[in-house]
Amino acid sequence: MKKKIFAISGSTRKNASSNLLINYIREINQDNFDIIEYPSIELLPHFNPDLEQTALPSEVVEFRKLIEEADGVLICTPEYIFSLPGSLKNALEWTVATIVFDSKPTALIVASALGEHAFQELLLIMKTMSANYKEDTTMLISGIRSKFDENSELKDAVLKEKLMLLSNNFKKLMD
Ligand SMILES: Cc1cc2nc3c(=O)[nH]c(=O)nc-3n(C[C@H](O)[C@H](O)[C@H](O)COP(=O)(O)O)c2cc1C
Repeated sequence: MKKKIFAISGSTRKNASSNLLINYIREINQDNFDIIEYPSIELLPHFNPDLEQTALPSEVVEFRKLIEEADGVLICTPEYIFSLPGSLKNALEWTVATIVFDSKPTALIVASALGEHAFQELLLIMKTMSANYKEDTTMLISGIRSKFDENSELKDAVLKEKLMLLSNNFKKLMD
């Protein structure tokens, strides 16, 4: 039975490395994963705790439901100004008062020029929300742009191998 994966890219850029990586992970896991990628985190309104009590925006209801219904969540993001991109942080803020990530098998990838700060931040945020990730379902990929060729195809053999390993570990986490 294929695992239902909800994928979130931290980039709003159409051809972003994070989106390409999500596509690559889909490609190499066709027999194991059914990956639904969130259309764009920019669809979500700015987080406002007041709205939690009164009128939760429909986009937020849908976003939470997609996380809740997935067997696992894959987050793949660049680092912006030594932090998570604001849009991704905003999306995660909309889940913090819920239990949607509680024990949810999760794979976390930061793919950036450097990325160390965003990586540590993402791990801390997801730990705080009790997401179920292991060291081997997380990955920091520095120098991400150099890993693709001019046709946006992943060309780095070592990275390909690592992404296959991460996929297998992610699958085990959901079994
Ligand atoms: C506004 C902005 C801020 C950035 N800040 C950082 C940063 O702090 N650290 C880093 O590693 N890369 C930073 N970058 C570069 C991104 O990591 C770079 O875009 C990355 O290679 C991902 O490319 P992508 O757009 O294909 O996802 C920044 C890029 C932008 C647009």
